[in-house]
Amino acid sequence: MNIEDSYYAQKKIICENEKLTSYDASFVIDNDNPNIKKYNEVIPRVYTTPFLSAEFCKELLEESIRLSTKEDTFEVNPTEVGSVQVPEFNFKKVPGVYNLIIRAVKENLVPIFNHLWGRAKYYEATIQIANYSPKEISEISYHFDSAGDVSVVVPLNTGEYEGGGTEFLNRGIVEPLPNGTALFFDSFTNKHRGLAVTKGQRYLLVMWIKGYNYSFDLTRE
Ligand SMILES: [Fe+2]
Repeated sequence: MNIEDSYYAQKKIICENEKLTSYDASFVIDNDNPNIKKYNEVIPRVYTTPFLSAEFCKELLEESIRLSTKEDTFEVNPTEVGSVQVPEFNFKKVPGVYNLIIRAVKENLVPIFNHLWGRAKYYEATIQIANYSPKEISEISYHFDSAGDVSVVVPLNTGEYEGGGTEFLNRGIVEPLPNGTALFFDSFTNKHRGLAVTKGQRYLLVMWIKGYNYSFDLTRE
């Protein structure tokens, strides 16, 4: 178990909301969207696809805020440098919800990842909700994500704040997307920043996923 895992294991929270722990694809996934499982390249090497349902996004955010006020708070990760810190709610604390989101990723995003990058298997994921607001942290500076191979960002409350969006260095801006639409890109080649939220609170589901497409058998004869 790495340092981060053992830190969150001590803070384990049980989620009693069955909608968020027992997988029901018709509730979790945006299945009514005719473009489900298709993707768009909105900026070279930066993609979007319909993913989670608007109802699931709403329920997930409300439950996270509820759990957060009851048991814990959104907190910054002390291991990150200040310019990229943002208050976050890490789902390693909530295994039931973590496992449900992983299942949705495996069934709906991994086939796309495999098509784009030839990676069919993913073995480690960080899943959290990031909170940007003018009162606390409204923006983060340019960086490469370093916690995984693929970065996925899913808006949870578009329309309830002003500003925001993601800028890719010298390549363009992705304005806030509809709730549930995944923005994703390979973590190593896409330098980006979160643009300032000027009013209200912006909540994003953020995932960093490590993938592979080879055998882990490293034994030698
Ligand atoms: Fe990032």
